[in-house]
Amino acid sequence: MKKGKIGIFDSGYGGLTVMRSIVDVLPGFDFVYLGDNARAPYGNRSFETVYQYTLESVNWLFDQGCELVVLACNTASAKALRQIQQIDLPKRSDNKRVLGVIRPSTESIGRYTKTGVVGIMGTVGTVKSETYPTEIARFFPSLRVEQEACPMWVYLVEHNQREGVGAEYFVKLHLDRILSRNPQIDTILLACTHYPLLEKTLNKCIPSNVRLVSQGRIVAESLNAYLNRHPEIRNILGSGASRSFFTTDDTLTFEAQASIFFGDSVRVKHVQIG
Ligand code: DGL
Repeated sequence: MKKGKIGIFDSGYGGLTVMRSIVDVLPGFDFVYLGDNARAPYGNRSFETVYQYTLESVNWLFDQGCELVVLACNTASAKALRQIQQIDLPKRSDNKRVLGVIRPSTESIGRYTKTGVVGIMGTVGTVKSETYPTEIARFFPSLRVEQEACPMWVYLVEHNQREGVGAEYFVKLHLDRILSRNPQIDTILLACTHYPLLEKTLNKCIPSNVRLVSQGRIVAESLNAYLNRHPEIRNILGSGASRSFFTTDDTLTFEAQASIFFGDSVRVKHVQIG
């Protein structure tokens, strides 16, 4: 019987925004979500630490029967994906796969802009890695890319401070900075999966000529296309439409937050990793 699952990993709640879209596009598959909330945020951590935490989490998801893991986290995709794909996966004999969120986003971002100037808002780690400008240049060489690291935004989400004066201050601070660097920006990619959870505050603060792009739908469509190109993976995936959720931190807090972000009530189990 086919029973392979799809794992979705993030440092915390952010990946739920991606999982929501993936489940909407691919409702029949079995999913396991892991949020490493106890060690979030990853955004300010070193390459070595993000790599180690991500690898531990991916291996845990493999142990749960996942054949394919999506790193629904830009920081992990920027700092750990390549090493996992090139060094760790080839050591295994079981043909498991790990995909990230940066490639699908950079492949499509050029379609949203009219001015040819896009803003990338992400964690310190994602911005410093320069992965976005490098990858966008491969697909859209004439695009101009401005980046802005927003270190407080993940804390606002993880600590349930998504609206109000404090959230507005930090959201506006970084939007103003990036837009003042290049007023031609007409498209801003939320290049951290936590940021769509700040949607209400972002919409309040952003000028009407600037479009916000979230990654959920882009990643979901890209995963669907990937599975169509790889029947050898698609064919070993189960179709029980199950969803399991795990966190490395407090389950009650996660359940309360996750139900809002995922849109359905969610039962969560605690797991110790690392
Ligand atoms: N949600 C993550 C991302 O997309 C990381 C947030 C963090 O842990 O700093 O980058």
